[in-house]
Amino acid sequence: MFSVNINFLRLPGNYLFSTIAGKVNEYKQANPDKSLISLGIGDVTRPLPPAVISALHSAVDEMADASTFKGYAPDGGYAFLREAISKKDYAPKGVDISPDEIFVGDGAKSDSGNIQEIFSPNAKIAVTDPVYPVYVDSNAIAGRVGFFDEIEEKWDNLIYMPCTADNCFAPQLPGDKPDVIYLCFPNNPTGSTIPKSELQEWVDYANTIGALIIYDAAYEAYISSENVAHSIFECEGAKTCAIEIRSFSKNAGFTGTRLGFTVIPKELEYNGVKLRDLWARRQGTKFNGAPYIIQKAGEAVYSDQGQKEVRELVEYYMENARLIRETLDGMGYTVSGGIDAPYIWMKTPEGVDSWGFFDRLLTEANVVGTPGSGFGPSGEGYFRLTAFGTHENTKEALERIKRL
Ligand code: MLT
Repeated sequence: MFSVNINFLRLPGNYLFSTIAGKVNEYKQANPDKSLISLGIGDVTRPLPPAVISALHSAVDEMADASTFKGYAPDGGYAFLREAISKKDYAPKGVDISPDEIFVGDGAKSDSGNIQEIFSPNAKIAVTDPVYPVYVDSNAIAGRVGFFDEIEEKWDNLIYMPCTADNCFAPQLPGDKPDVIYLCFPNNPTGSTIPKSELQEWVDYANTIGALIIYDAAYEAYISSENVAHSIFECEGAKTCAIEIRSFSKNAGFTGTRLGFTVIPKELEYNGVKLRDLWARRQGTKFNGAPYIIQKAGEAVYSDQGQKEVRELVEYYMENARLIRETLDGMGYTVSGGIDAPYIWMKTPEGVDSWGFFDRLLTEANVVGTPGSGFGPSGEGYFRLTAFGTHENTKEALERIKRL
């Protein structure tokens, strides 16, 4: 008789952003006259850059002509995009990543959720706390993190690396020995970064204990500090212990267009098995490639015009980040993040927990944010605001928060 994957039943509630969307919709239905401002999910609001739009138009025309029409895309992505990534994202940082170490996919969320399929079922996982929920939920669904303790709000077979104000939201090397370590810098949700020298310590640690680092660099375009690495492969030895995941969503606005990539160096192997080959096998079996027109759009991001337009987008959002940080700080809130990242991590007022603050902001200010506790137990008492709104909505949201 059929039985379900019981690991799904162990998940506490829904995916964080689905829960929030549900609460927001309920409030909207009960209060149709209210105009809500979302600074919740990290979804962009600026249109795609003109260079990208123009590439999309030409690619659509190619699809209309039998002589240029494209069917299935290659599993790992078209060579034109993989070469552009290698030349424009990695070579300028002094990092030699060849096109066949780059796997183009339909976004960093899919890749960061799917990558665990190449781990052993018993792999011991370590995550920062708070953390982007996809890493934990995908391993929970695979049965790798045990049972969820409702009181502690923790999985019993998962290593948590607390990131709190005491350690400037930077994880410390764990006491227990992990097989896989998920790191995300600039960090979602705290907006923190670590200097390259500290990232190097993680690489050295992983190489020493034989662990794998899954490095989520979806927000690298927001780095302005000189001492922060844009790629983990800027660290010596990273090619023997790390996989890097990147996105076109946050830099070039592809949240609705879907494009990302994963880099798995040829040197990365355990017991003679190359992880690159496993991922190629996985993608070959389960993925038919990101659409041609979207990959052409991705290629346009790397043109001179595309790069200039992406920089303008990043500056636009970082102006919001500055405004949110400074305004909240001026109001007496404790804030961090928002310097090398589009997320601002604020402490909730004394005596108000994360979901309490969410409800208050939703009902009294009609502003949507993300409760810190949704990202893990160390997020309790914190709240995340995104800089991805429009300038107008961001200013208006801050005015409303001032009036609370
Ligand atoms: C977030 O708000 O944390 C992100 O938008 C989620 C994502 O990129 O999938």
